[in-house]
Amino acid sequence: MARWSQIFIYLAAVLTVSTVLVDYFYNTSEFPRILKARVRQTSPDHVPERTKFPPSQKKPGSSCPGSLKSKVKADPLYGKLFSFNESMLMWDRHFTLAVWKRLQNQKTPYGWNGISYSVLSSTLKLMNDSANSWLFDARPPGNCVRCAVVGNGGILNGSRQGKAIDDHDFVFRLNGAVIRGFEKDVGTKTSFYAFTVNTMKNSLIAYKVYGFTKIPQSEDLRYIFIPSELRDYIMLKSAILGLPVPEGFDKGDQPSKYFGPQASAKKFKLLHPDFLTYIRSRFLKSEIKFRNDFLYIPSTGALMLLTALHSCDQVSAYGFITDNYQHFSDHYFEREKKPVLFYGNHDMLLEAKLWKDLHKHGIMTLYQR
Ligand SMILES: *[C@@H]1O[C@H](CO)[C@@H](O)[C@H](O)[C@H]1NC(C)=O
Ligand SMILES: *[C@@H]1O[C@H](CO)[C@@H](O)[C@H](O)[C@H]1NC(C)=O
Ligand SMILES: *[C@@H]1O[C@H](CO)[C@@H](O)[C@H](O)[C@H]1NC(C)=O
Repeated sequence: MARWSQIFIYLAAVLTVSTVLVDYFYNTSEFPRILKARVRQTSPDHVPERTKFPPSQKKPGSSCPGSLKSKVKADPLYGKLFSFNESMLMWDRHFTLAVWKRLQNQKTPYGWNGISYSVLSSTLKLMNDSANSWLFDARPPGNCVRCAVVGNGGILNGSRQGKAIDDHDFVFRLNGAVIRGFEKDVGTKTSFYAFTVNTMKNSLIAYKVYGFTKIPQSEDLRYIFIPSELRDYIMLKSAILGLPVPEGFDKGDQPSKYFGPQASAKKFKLLHPDFLTYIRSRFLKSEIKFRNDFLYIPSTGALMLLTALHSCDQVSAYGFITDNYQHFSDHYFEREKKPVLFYGNHDMLLEAKLWKDLHKHGIMTLYQR
């Protein structure tokens, strides 16, 4: 009996001490506080509300008969996928505390995780010209805004589409858009040039041998920044200010080398990170996700084509991947046929399927041969 009571007292003592200890740690270590903070962040009533933005572009004409918008709305599949209410561009008024808090919890590309507040605020503060809030600075004379988006696919070699491309109101080009020597195939007009700093600088290196020695420049041309990482914001800020890049990956670069001497906020459009995320998740949700440490992203051409599809009344896509891509070289400017290169972070077959389907549904025209 005495032995049992001894054991009982011993057990009671152990229990008391451990309770006290647990209590002590629970209240003094970081653990419970972090736990509470996590719970708070993810509980449904703390999910931040989607910020309502003012419209980001002049609406395409409602007076355009048979506009792609009306076709989309009448289409059972695409009527549900497309949302024309998304803010396409980002400018100073979008940089609010709520947006900052939300996007800094999302990974790059398209989130702001790891991008400093000071870089973002000092960059976005400069995007305060009304031209930063819409894509088209002026409406073309007709009722319909007709756009050509020119990808760099080999299908354009020998296509003789230059005149048809230039006949559009606005021509979008991207990355290694070689023109000299290919005027008959790809035209000469460039209203918008789109890129990430990474794709722009890589194009200058990789396609120099094909004559891509300079980013397209002209007084009327506007640049579309696709913000995918810190360096894009730093370059944009330096470009508006007309100053050498002060820090980071591109330190010392002269933006005028890329964008010409007339630097001003008016020259630049910045795609809204939320718009890019919307495009990726609605239209180009790929099975390729976190393979090998990198995140799947749509190609620059895909982002541009979908941007045009959300802002023009008519869209023609040239130089985009088609079913018979194997008949053509990777790019139109190559001198010898090269097989189409499938980068691991893109899903070109998924993109090919989407272009073909949008063409079939009459929402855009895909150049095929
Ligand atoms: C889009 O905006 C229009 C009016 O601006 C509104 O009637 C419509 O309900 C909105 N659609 C969505 C999906 O928010
Ligand atoms: C835009 O920002 C610049 C730099 O901060 C400033 O000098 C300019 O006055 C602003 N313009 C407008 C229209 O707010
Ligand atoms: C481009 O077309 C020309 C003639 O149209 C042809 O000689 C050349 O081989 C083609 N280039 C490629 C890379 O296919």
